Amino acid sequence: MNDGDGTRAAQDRGRQFGPLGTALVIIPTYNEAENIKSIVGRVRKAVPEAHVLVADDNSPDGTGKLADELAAEDDHVHVLHRKGKEGLGAAYLAGFRWGLEKGYGVLIEMDADGSHQPEELPRLLTALKGADLVLGSRWVPGGRVVNWPKSREFISRGGSLYSRLALDLPLRDITGGYRAFRRETLEGLGLDDVASQGYCFQVDLARRAVKAGYHVVEVPITFVERELGDSKMSRDILVEALWRVTSWGAQERVGKLLGRTRPSSSPSRPSQS
Ligand code: GDD
Ligand code: MN
Repeated sequence: MNDGDGTRAAQDRGRQFGPLGTALVIIPTYNEAENIKSIVGRVRKAVPEAHVLVADDNSPDGTGKLADELAAEDDHVHVLHRKGKEGLGAAYLAGFRWGLEKGYGVLIEMDADGSHQPEELPRLLTALKGADLVLGSRWVPGGRVVNWPKSREFISRGGSLYSRLALDLPLRDITGGYRAFRRETLEGLGLDDVASQGYCFQVDLARRAVKAGYHVVEVPITFVERELGDSKMSRDILVEALWRVTSWGAQERVGKLLGRTRPSSSPSRPSQS
C-alpha cells in the first residue's frame, strides 16, 4: 500500500476514535415478504437502541407494505420506498444518504434473509470502537458458512481471492455484505461516483476504504444460508463484478506504472488530528 503499512499501523495505534453515535441498520429488500418481520424483530431485540431502515425496491410480493406495518408500530423502524429494482448498490447508496442526512453516527449493512445474524451485531459494534469500518468476515479464523452449497462457497471465496490479488487488498472477505461504517468513513469514500449496482458494490466500498487509508477490521461471523425466499444472485451480477474488479485493477497498475502514488479514482481520507 502507498502509505507504508508500518507507519499506518503505528498511526492507527495512536489514533483516538470518537464515540459511536446512534446506529442505523439498513436492510435492502427485494421480495423478502417471508423474512422481513423476523429480521426486523431480531435486530430490534439484539440492539434495542439502534434504528432500522428497510430499503425496498417496490417488491412485487408486498415486502414494502409489511415493512410499513412494522414502522407504524415502532418508531425505531423506517422504510425507504424506491420505485423499482435497481440493484443492491443503489438501494444501499439511497439508504446511506437517508441515514447521513438524519444524523446517524453508524451505518450498518445487513441482508434481510437471516444470513447475517443480528445477534452478532454487538460484536461488530464493539470492534468499530477502534476502527473506521468493520467487515463481518466468513473467511477469517472463526468465521464460517452454514448450509451454503459448495458452488456458492467456491464463487464467494474465488471472488474474494480475485479481488484481493487484482486490487492488492489486505482483506479476506471482500464481497460480504455485513458491515458497520462510522459516518465519517462513508463521508470520506466519495459515494457520489459509485456506479456499482450489484454485489460488486461491496468490493468497491472495501477498496475505496483501504485506498483512502481507513482502518478496516475483519470480525469473524457465521453466515447462515437463507431458509425462505430466493437469492438474487444472477449471471449479470457476476459478470458486472468480474469486469469492474478487473478494470479497477488494471487502472491501478497503469497508475503505478505512470508513477502516480494514489489511484486517481480513489478519494482520500480527510486529515485527522
Ligand atoms: N432493494 C434491493 N434491490 N434489495 C436487493 C436487491 C435489489 O435489487 N437485490 C438483492 N437485494 C437484497 C435482498 O433482498 C437481500 O436482503 C440482500 O439484498 C442480499 O441478497 P441475496 O440475494 O440474499 O444475496 P446472496 O445471499 O445471494 O448474497 C450474499 O452474498 C453476497 C456475496 O458474498 C449477500 O451477503 C451479499 O451481500 C453478498 O455480496
Ligand atoms: Mn442471501
